[in-house]
Amino acid sequence: MKKITLIIACILFPYIYSSAQGGMWVPSMIGERIKDMKSKGSSLSADDIYNTKKPSYKDAVVIFGGGCTGGMISPDGLMLTNHHCGFSQLQKHSSVTHDYLKDGFWAKNRDEELPNPGLEAKFLIRMEDVTDKILAGTNGQNATDTERIKQDNIEKIIKESVEGTDYMAEVKPIYYSNQYYVYIYEVFKDVRIVGAPPSSIGKFGGETDNWMWPRHTGDFMYFRVYAGKDNKPAPYSKDNVPYRPKKYFNIATKGINEGDFTMIYGYPARTQQYLFSEGVDDILNYSNPAKIKLRTMRLEEIQKARKSDPAIRIAYAYKEANIANAWKKWQGESLGLHRLNTIDKKRAYEMSFNEWAQGKAEYKDVISDLKNQYDLIHDYALVRDYYNEAIRAIELIKAVELAGKWSSNTTDTVPAALTGFYKDYYPEIDIRIAKKVLAEYMNNVPKEFIPVEVNKNISDAGGVNKYIDSLFENSLFVSEENLKAGINKGYNFIEDPAVKLYSAFRDMYRNKVLNYLETYNANIESLQKVFVRGQQEYDAEKKTNRAFFPDANHTLRVAYGSVSGYSPEDGVWYVPVTTLEGIIAKDNPEDYDFNIPQKLRDVHSAADYGRWETNGTIPVCFLASNHTSGGNSGSPVLNGKGELIGLNFDRTWTSTMSDIEFDPSICRNIGLDIRYILFVTEKVCGAGYLINEMTLKK
Ligand code: ARG
Ligand code: ASP
Repeated sequence: MKKITLIIACILFPYIYSSAQGGMWVPSMIGERIKDMKSKGSSLSADDIYNTKKPSYKDAVVIFGGGCTGGMISPDGLMLTNHHCGFSQLQKHSSVTHDYLKDGFWAKNRDEELPNPGLEAKFLIRMEDVTDKILAGTNGQNATDTERIKQDNIEKIIKESVEGTDYMAEVKPIYYSNQYYVYIYEVFKDVRIVGAPPSSIGKFGGETDNWMWPRHTGDFMYFRVYAGKDNKPAPYSKDNVPYRPKKYFNIATKGINEGDFTMIYGYPARTQQYLFSEGVDDILNYSNPAKIKLRTMRLEEIQKARKSDPAIRIAYAYKEANIANAWKKWQGESLGLHRLNTIDKKRAYEMSFNEWAQGKAEYKDVISDLKNQYDLIHDYALVRDYYNEAIRAIELIKAVELAGKWSSNTTDTVPAALTGFYKDYYPEIDIRIAKKVLAEYMNNVPKEFIPVEVNKNISDAGGVNKYIDSLFENSLFVSEENLKAGINKGYNFIEDPAVKLYSAFRDMYRNKVLNYLETYNANIESLQKVFVRGQQEYDAEKKTNRAFFPDANHTLRVAYGSVSGYSPEDGVWYVPVTTLEGIIAKDNPEDYDFNIPQKLRDVHSAADYGRWETNGTIPVCFLASNHTSGGNSGSPVLNGKGELIGLNFDRTWTSTMSDIEFDPSICRNIGLDIRYILFVTEKVCGAGYLINEMTLKK
């Protein structure tokens, strides 16, 4: 039976594969997609999207902070991104007397806007294919020399690219180092908070609704980019003025309909479309299940604890959100990979590729070589996951890690990194988690990766539970008070049992895992380089029409699709838009995550929607078939005229396999309708004055 399926899969494969689309396209090459974009309803030209000679939409898109995207929406530097992207900045400005997380924040004038040291907004000046320059002089060289020459070339290119400017440049490979691009950015360092809705809007639905549809989260926040008087980047100063961007987005107030063209312009961080089947097998059958199980253990304990004490809810809110976000993503990813049969499709493809490759010296061994490397890396990759998700998930271990060299070089104050840590730390939760995750590590990781002394300590203590009890009884890292007492008594911290546990695992990992991981990963990378090149040749020869876009690497990309519903499972159809009525239906004053502001209730009962009213209500979120990934949060969603129709913030959880395989019939991004953003800004938060700086288009 299996054989027959395989044969059928082989015959059908090119067709099946080519029917899948999606893609995160390189803006400087967008010309190749314009015809297809037009056929789907866009009227944009390549120059509208990316141009280095005159302003284009690329000048209105920024890298916001470390991992999000933002979009410029006014001539005065106003920028829109997600609430979850600005969350940590908002938290830093919050205290018990002014809790901006809970109540929201709105600067009534520009003097009230809140500066955020360390926060940057990066604008792309240009990108350029520099493959030839980077490979120059490498012909005929051995591997070590090639690497050295490439590094020298990269340094030279970076230097040349920014000479005489205050720009910043970086070189990044695409297609597994078959090609290289240089990216040149202008980096603004004075970025201030302008407005944020209360969490009961910005985080509405909490973890329950995260990654879900139907969705009603008002995940938006305004910032403003500031510059020196010359409109150039300048460090924070009271005298800085709003940055005048080369381009900003006009806002479409007409709204959207099912089937409308949508485009997302932003910075997706990482996808693995060309991953070898064994790599997918590792994720689906080993890594994800292990990581999910370990995080379930942690979440269960945190959730139990937070129900009993509101202080714990606050202390663990951010940690819980972080643990839960990836936990849910991995579950959806696994469901999606099963549903799409990604592994079988990849295996069938690799089999037929391998047949084709037999006459070709360059490609004939690549499949079997990849298979070998994956066999070799398997155990080490598993230990990596358990080490990160079990051992390093014990907060007591985290504390030792944060203390760093302090333990062996103790000063008379508690390390600064730890004071913040203890503010949100409850050892009674940690101890319960530690017992579970350590036991899980012991039961699943091959013996050789359990440090000998840890094994001995556990059996001396009479098992994991007793060992952990004594660890928490004897380690001074359980609280700031204990650390202080220890400092006063001249305690030798390097002998602390938590420090010893941490060092034992860290040394084991460094000595027995890391080297192998690095070697095999490097081997896989260089084989993938050959394999991706081969796939392009093979697909061209077989005329599969498969779209070869480079994997996301946190550089600017264009994705396009349309507003569309989908069937998440048999018998169910998701309509692509939600409305305020759904928020009112979910409203529950008893449940922190679903307790909307009274003002929103009042506006709803008075139907005081003003100019944002649409069919008697307010549209909130919408689904579209754009290929997005982590990092695309805060990305502008544009219509076919390049006007802003929404703000991207999520995907549905069962479409997160799109990082490995995108299927347009079931993969959906979730955007926030711009009209809901403007409605909340004006009618609920009383900040309609901000809308005056925007350009609204009917
Ligand atoms: N799921 C979205 C993303 O991956 C939103 C995350 C917001 N964080 C959260 N824990 N709810 O970033
Ligand atoms: N929520 C993600 C982000 O923060 C976006 C996604 O994974 O779809 O970038």
